[in-house]
Amino acid sequence: MSQSDPQPLRAGPGDIAVRDVALSATKDLRARVLRNHIPGSPAHTPSDDLADTWHLGAFRGDRLVGVVTVFPQDAPGHPGVPAQRFRFMAVEPSEQGTGAGSALMKEVIGRARARGDRLLWANGRDTALDFYVRLGFEVADESFTESNLPHHVVVRRIS
Ligand SMILES: CC(C)(COP(=O)(O)OP(=O)(O)OC[C@H]1O[C@@H](n2cnc3c(N)ncnc32)[C@H](O)[C@@H]1OP(=O)(O)O)[C@@H](O)C(=O)NCCC(=O)NCCS
Repeated sequence: MSQSDPQPLRAGPGDIAVRDVALSATKDLRARVLRNHIPGSPAHTPSDDLADTWHLGAFRGDRLVGVVTVFPQDAPGHPGVPAQRFRFMAVEPSEQGTGAGSALMKEVIGRARARGDRLLWANGRDTALDFYVRLGFEVADESFTESNLPHHVVVRRIS
């Protein structure tokens, strides 16, 4: 390829904008990305209905390509320490690996820090643990099964 040839277009994290979304906007990605292995299984939990629950969307242009839901809850082993838990972290399959998940997590970390929280945590799928470790999370020792898949708790200090 000569220097004058156009470079192939490749989506990147700079193209991603993160903003608040309604619970209803998260449902399609939740179902398709996180419940595809157990069709019909609900992608809704009581934590969705808490007063302090918030939902973020990652957008490429006008297209919603990633979602996450966050709410206050003590982290396992850290009672009384201000913490946010996140659930239903899902990126459109065709967009995975292009920065949407990191952009969502960085926004969650920044907002949680601004709220005065000290910890951020989740039940992380084993297949996603390396993603969380890259973002500064520590992986707890104990493994458990959730939604038929192996998980570990992941925790990140944010202060
Ligand atoms: C896991 C997930 C949320 C990550 O979001 P993403 O947008 O694909 O991740 P990013 O593009 O921001 O990746 C950031 C880095 O983590 C890496 N990474 C992403 N997903 C990974 C995974 N599952 N395992 C290991 N590394 C991963 C990327 O290669 C990238 O590395 P780099 O910085 O060296 O380029 C997304 O892939 C997804 O929705 N997966 C399926 C559902 C899922 O597992 N959700 C989490 C449930 S706990």
